[in-house]
Amino acid sequence: MLDQFDRNIDYMRISVTDRCNLRCRYCMPEGADYESHEAILRYEEILRICRAAIGLGVRKFKITGGEPLVRRGCTELIAALKALPGAEQVTLTTNGLLLGEHLDALCDAGLDAVNISLDTLDKEKFRRITGFSLFRPEDALALLRRCCDRGLRAKINAVLLPENRDEVCALAAIAAEKPVDVRFIELMPIGFGGSLERVSPDEALDALKRRWPDLHPTNEKRGNGPARYYAADALLGRIGFIDAVSHRFCDSCNRVRLTSTGQLKPCLCFDSTLDLRALLRGGCSDEQLQSALRDGIFRKPRAHRFDLPQEITEHRIMSQIGG
Ligand code: 5AD
Ligand code: SF4
Repeated sequence: MLDQFDRNIDYMRISVTDRCNLRCRYCMPEGADYESHEAILRYEEILRICRAAIGLGVRKFKITGGEPLVRRGCTELIAALKALPGAEQVTLTTNGLLLGEHLDALCDAGLDAVNISLDTLDKEKFRRITGFSLFRPEDALALLRRCCDRGLRAKINAVLLPENRDEVCALAAIAAEKPVDVRFIELMPIGFGGSLERVSPDEALDALKRRWPDLHPTNEKRGNGPARYYAADALLGRIGFIDAVSHRFCDSCNRVRLTSTGQLKPCLCFDSTLDLRALLRGGCSDEQLQSALRDGIFRKPRAHRFDLPQEITEHRIMSQIGG
């Protein structure tokens, strides 16, 4: 459906849990609280919201967290979503730790693509960024190989951080070996991201151009998102940049978010949400649900104000919102 600024909203990101098996510095450092189990939407509730959303023209869904694969039954939810008439695409964002054990079932469930968050290939840096000390880069690369072998489209997402600014080319080189897009994400000033040093995407692009001098922008649209892509002859995959802060892409924003507690969140920057859980648990009809959702989507704000910290009203951390 079109929102009040005529943007076609056809994409919903669904956080199925605020829990995670990592503690990324910018997302959910040690000590963050979790929601209670009762506060989290049940899968039937999520599916009911998705049916209403499909009725309004949403066609693509991304399952996020926290880490979605720590919630039992995530694969079954994906299969059920894929079975909804009108759901054209269901994809997953994961930190990859549990992906190996679920990969076959996810492919059988019909998962269309996976985004794997991987900020570094260095064991020690991985520990510094995520708190996890048992990371093995060879496992991450083998997992990517398995995704490719199974025909599952995979992308790497790396948040640009002081820890990995010297590793941009090493991460991008994954796209030289495998048909995988590697995307660099500018740190957004949401939650703990607001208090950390930001590395500019231009700096990363300069480093990449020194390594691959023929690196050039392509106008391809790959996936649902606002990434700008670059290609080079030696690369099988593309290099992407998702730089919400320095290159605002709100005019073409196509998404809304559903938090794990059932809040519809039209824009990452603002805390205004619509409490769909209260509606569902209050016994609303399908028509009432769809009408509330229509209003919520229609009122999506025009643009974020990440440039003006005092205007950012979202104070929850990223794992509570869904990255
Ligand atoms: N800025 C940018 N990306 C973030 N993510 C989590 N927090 C932030 C932030 N503040 C990313 C994760 C993952 C995706 C779900 O969101 O690294 O790739
Ligand atoms: Fe977990 Fe992803 Fe947040 Fe890291 S960024 S703590 S992997 S939810």
